[in-house]
Amino acid sequence: MSQAAPRPLIIGNWKMYKTIPEAIEFVKKLIPIIASSPSEVYLAVPFTTIHPLSEEAKGSSLVIGAQNMNDASEGAFTGEIAAKMLTQAGAQFVVLGHSERRRLFHEDNGFINRKVIRALIEGLRPVLCIGESQEEHDEKRTEEIVKNQLKECLEGINPINLANLVVAYEPVWAIGTSNSATPEYMQNIQKVIREFLTELLGDKNAKKVAVLYGGSLNPKNSKELLQNSDIDGLLVGGASLSLETFVEIVNDSCKQINEAAK
Ligand code: PGA
Repeated sequence: MSQAAPRPLIIGNWKMYKTIPEAIEFVKKLIPIIASSPSEVYLAVPFTTIHPLSEEAKGSSLVIGAQNMNDASEGAFTGEIAAKMLTQAGAQFVVLGHSERRRLFHEDNGFINRKVIRALIEGLRPVLCIGESQEEHDEKRTEEIVKNQLKECLEGINPINLANLVVAYEPVWAIGTSNSATPEYMQNIQKVIREFLTELLGDKNAKKVAVLYGGSLNPKNSKELLQNSDIDGLLVGGASLSLETFVEIVNDSCKQINEAAK
């Protein structure tokens, strides 16, 4: 684990799942379970559940956030949502540039860059997703793609303002495929990401950035990845929808730091 995150950061990404009652039921059970967890636990939830869940999470260690937002402060953008609407509803962070947004909704690095800037202006912690496609992976272009995504998505931002940044490496070939990256693979790529962040932001600022892994995580591979690579945490999709598996992942991430402290 790097200096960026002395505690593992575990983010659940619910995608387009859970109604308000389902979400409240989940969070009511989750809060007491994670109360004394040494890991930081975040949930990226559907827009409609941000406010009720933030109310539930008040005074607890659970942090609620969004999965997307627009880059404009407000305006005639039917169907979009502004950062200040999210913070006002209680969101504390936002996932930006998820590969599903890039692939299905044609978001490019320039748009994501403007969203990161807007999130910082409004005080939302940005969780910037990067990662190569299967094709790019097969063509051995991972390093080039990931560096370009980081460069373009962080373009023009004063590194001092990026102390809170979270970078989630989520290779497209690993998302929802049961084909997760191995700890060895992750050790390599996290090193590439860290070195490039140092080049972009300077050593001091880059050290503050948390680097996570996401893609087909389950309790077993989560533990292996946290134990055997220097990643700072996990972005968990499908496995965060079940309280049982999500709690197992969070609990195992705590054991990982307990073991490291011995
Ligand atoms: P998955 O999704 O864990 O279901 O593969 C991860 C993500 O898309 O964030």
